[in-house]
Parts: sequence; C-alpha cells; structure tokens
Amino acid sequence: MGRKVTKAIFPVAGLGTRFLPATKSIPKEILSLVDKPLIQYAIDEARAAGIEEFIFVTSRGKGALEDYFDHAHELESSLRKSGKDKLLDILRGTNMDSGAIAYIRQHKALGLGHAVWCARRLLQEDEPFAVVLTDDVIQGEPPCLQQMIEAYEETGGSMVATMEVPTEKVSAYGVLDVAEDMGAIVRAKGMVEKPAAGTQPSNLAVIGRYILAPTVMQNLNKLKQGAGGEIQLTDAIADEIAEGRDVFGLRFRGQRFDCGSKAGFLQATVAFGLERDDLKDEFADYLAEVVAMRRAAE
Ligand code: UTP
Repeated sequence: MGRKVTKAIFPVAGLGTRFLPATKSIPKEILSLVDKPLIQYAIDEARAAGIEEFIFVTSRGKGALEDYFDHAHELESSLRKSGKDKLLDILRGTNMDSGAIAYIRQHKALGLGHAVWCARRLLQEDEPFAVVLTDDVIQGEPPCLQQMIEAYEETGGSMVATMEVPTEKVSAYGVLDVAEDMGAIVRAKGMVEKPAAGTQPSNLAVIGRYILAPTVMQNLNKLKQGAGGEIQLTDAIADEIAEGRDVFGLRFRGQRFDCGSKAGFLQATVAFGLERDDLKDEFADYLAEVVAMRRAAE
C-alpha cells in the first residue's frame, strides 16, 4: 500500500493561447463554467480527495489567480449584513487555510514536465504527489482524484487517469501501452506522447489527473539535465516503467470535459448549466428550442 498523498501540484503556467483574446489579461484558470472558475473545480476535487497542500506553478500574468484565493473580508461582511447567507456560504467555501497554498514560478513555458519539476523543493524526497490539470474538468461521483487515490492505495506505484478515445482522436493524447488489463485498472508497459496516427499502442488516453511516485520527480531531474527544450511529464512516467516500477491507468467513472479547447469548454458549460436546479428548466427549454430551430432550417 502506498504512502498517503497530501500534496497536489497544479501546473497553471501555460499561455492559454487557444482562448485569446480572453486570456490576454485573465488567466485561463479563472474562466468560469456557469459561475465557478476552472481552478475552483480542481481545488474542490482535490480537497474531496484529502489533499491538504496545494502547489500552483504559475507564470507572469497570473496575478488574478493568486488574488482569487485571498479571503474577501469586506465582501463577506457586506453579504453577512444584508443577510445573503447562501452567497456567503458559497464565498466561504472558496477560502483556503493560511499556508495551504504555495505559488512557484515557472520562468519559461518549457512543458508540463518542467512545470511539475519546478515544484520539486516543496516535496519530500520520498513523498508521492498528485498532479491536477485544471483544463480537464471531470463530473464524477466520487470525484476522479478520489477514485484514483483509492485505487492507488491498493496498488502503490504511479497511477494516471485514463479513458478510451476514438482512434481518430488518440494522436492528441499521451497513450498507454497495456501489459495487463484488470478491468478498471490497467498495468502499463509503456506510455507514448501524441503517437503518430496508426502507431498508437492502444486507445487508452491519459488525461489530466496523476498520482506520482517520488521517483518520477527524480526522472524529471534527469530529463532536465539532458534536455534542451520541452520536458514531457509522459517521458518521466515512461521512465518509471523502463526502470521496472509500476505504472497503472485507472478507467475512472465520470464525464471529462477538455476545457482547454473551446468546444470542450462550451460542452462543459451546457453540462454544468443543466445540473443547476435554479437554471436547468429554463436552460433546457432554450436548448431544445435552438436545436428545433436548427433542424427546421436544415
Ligand atoms: P496546454 O498544452 O493546454 O497549454 O498545457 P496552455 O498554454 O495551457 O494552452 P494553449 O494550448 O496555449 O491554449 C496543459 C497544462 O499544462 C500547463 C498549462 O497551464 C495547462 O494546465 N503548462 C504547460 C505549464 O504549466 N507549463 C508549461 O510550460 C506548459
């Protein structure tokens, strides 16, 4: 059984170019599905999974993200005075304990592996850790990271979240080469980043949730020394397998939205809008109307 995972790294240093011009002045992670920023979905999921320390790897222009986690005392007292208890609860739900959040800068966008490596000094040498990509928003019960931590407690090693994707889309992902398929959990014998069409070892794509053994950080260290350009997290995980350590994939239960893409973001907006009691009837009627109008026009 693996050691308890209490720290999560959130790499949020990317440029977010696919959302320009929105991301010219606000970080992508502050973009909201209905009324909740992407970063809050990720934090809520990590908290539900027992994470206690939250490490953000940020970059220039991400100030709004740091401000987001400040306590809004004036706003809280104004809501309290006006008796808006529900809003006050929502606002308080975003408060983090002092000292629970750390910000580390990635000075150059040298890839996801490099972003994770930037957090190395905030982890103990023998400490497993989670990595959460806020672009991937997952509706799941229990939340995806909790499913992974439960699975990891059984297996140890490293664990990545995985899902089947259609063959024509698999080249956009890191992909698992499966040694043993145990149903929900698979044991990997390899992992390749964005395989060329037709060369993928399987249709099991890796998505943005990871529980990583401390040795993955050591692999990143080595890659850092050898590499001139980008450092891929996939390579550091594949090195685990090459060195004979266990890497598993978990077919999580839930729906994943790629909110790093515009289409995925819009789909998530619809899905989360339809989940809200205060919105769903009106919103569903509107969507039905739009679809009917499109059909009639075809
Ligand atoms: P993406 O590949 O989606 O890049 O990164 P991006 O810059 O965020 O977005 P686009 O493609 O320009 O629109 C995947 C995740 O890895 C982080 C990003 O913040 C995002 O969460 N990342 C990527 C870093 O933190 N540093 C990097 O050097 C690269």
